[in-house]
Amino acid sequence: MAGWNPFTRKAAMKKSRVDPAPAALSKPVASETTRRAQELNPLPRFNTTASDQVSGRGHDRFSALRAKLRHAFTPSQPVGDRKLFAGREEVLKTIIRAIEDQRLHVVIYGERGIGKTSLMHVLTQAASEARYIVVYTSCGANSTFDDTFRAAAAEIPLLFHSGFAPTTTEAETGASLADLLPNEALTPRKFGDLCAKLTGTRVLIILDEFDRAGSGSFRRDVAELIKNLSDRLGRVQLVLAGVAADLTELVEHIPSIRRNIFAMRIPKMSEVEVLQIVANGERETGLKFDKQASVFVVEVSRGSPYIANLICHHACHAALDGQRSSVYAADVASAVDRAIIEYEGRVPTPAQVHVRRVFDQGRQDALAMTARAALAGDGTFDALDIEAASEIALRKAQEAIDALVDERLLEPVPTEAVHQRYRFTEDGLPTLIWMIWAQRNLNREAAPVRATAAAS
Ligand SMILES: Nc1ncnc2c1ncn2[C@@H]1O[C@H](COP(=O)(O)OP(=O)(O)OP(=O)(O)O)[C@@H](O)[C@H]1O
Ligand SMILES: [Mg+2]
Repeated sequence: MAGWNPFTRKAAMKKSRVDPAPAALSKPVASETTRRAQELNPLPRFNTTASDQVSGRGHDRFSALRAKLRHAFTPSQPVGDRKLFAGREEVLKTIIRAIEDQRLHVVIYGERGIGKTSLMHVLTQAASEARYIVVYTSCGANSTFDDTFRAAAAEIPLLFHSGFAPTTTEAETGASLADLLPNEALTPRKFGDLCAKLTGTRVLIILDEFDRAGSGSFRRDVAELIKNLSDRLGRVQLVLAGVAADLTELVEHIPSIRRNIFAMRIPKMSEVEVLQIVANGERETGLKFDKQASVFVVEVSRGSPYIANLICHHACHAALDGQRSSVYAADVASAVDRAIIEYEGRVPTPAQVHVRRVFDQGRQDALAMTARAALAGDGTFDALDIEAASEIALRKAQEAIDALVDERLLEPVPTEAVHQRYRFTEDGLPTLIWMIWAQRNLNREAAPVRATAAAS
């Protein structure tokens, strides 16, 4: 029989019939009952206040560590703090050279979560230090040329316009280029004309999430602006960043401006860079990953800064749940369990069920090999990539591919290359497969978790 539940209507009515309370007293009695019930069965609470103070209740050294953890590994946010930005020195150096030495416009592209926005934040800081005026815009489905570039013009002080001496009233009263724009719709030519008059400064306009801008005319106008600015040796440069497998996917009409842009695909992180994410988090939190745990993070993340942050975040929480400040391999394994649950929401259920069935049929090697090859590059691969990455015979690699094409988990990619290339039929599948593989193969006992806090 179900136990007594003080919150059911029936129970409350029964109680009031037996013991009718005067109206004035009924409220305190009810809140006393609620308080007792809450003591017996407390609901989860926030540990930190909105002003980032650790709440006094149940405060211990682990709640302070949890608060630091929120800042140290941020799987759901780009990195804004330079101290937490790992690696990418060469990428940043190359972009800065293209902007500074070649005066080119820049297009940054790459898969979801590879670190484009984080890179844009760090680039913004570096350019601001060099006194560039940096305008950062995150594009949306409804972005228009008019809105975007009017907002950009509003951030460029009029005192840099060659027609206004710094001592003129307009320049002194904080007016901006936006004040010179006509009322009718802004065109690339009009904005370009205005930019050509700038002097004594350089402007970087960053259009992040450019792939989200749905309108073809917006993209076309941006391409036209790049052409216009380049032809006139303007002091304004554009940086576009977005998700794309290749450059043409990101920028329509690119042939006309190919010479004027520097395009760069953001590569996967190296092992050293992923280890730097771990080390940065250790420094910020005071938690320590043991050797095997770090190796697992590298293995599972496969060069994705997003997965590295996600796994480190959950692994650190698992360690704190165990009252430890040392993070062990078992914590990383339980982080993988958590990450899989989160990732499952991003892959259609039939595809997940299908993959698990193929795992259960003992064909995990074919799945792991192909997922690893997909994750190593832009999501497409051929048998040679598998041969190289997994050190197996080419024939075996092709057999693995053919088996998964039969299962409709892989499909051929139209290509003119000599070797047929393939990709997974769902975007999220390679990561999900790789994590399920890790879940089944990480040696959870590699570094047994010691039982007491003292051990850490
Ligand atoms: N250099 C880095 N050092 C540490 N963490 C990073 C770095 N780059 C990215 N990350 C982490 O990776 C995740 C994804 O980063 P970011 O949002 O910058 O990627 P993105 O390519 O812009 O993603 P999207 O395609 O969804 O816009 C975030 O958790 C971020 O904290
Ligand atoms: Mg982004």
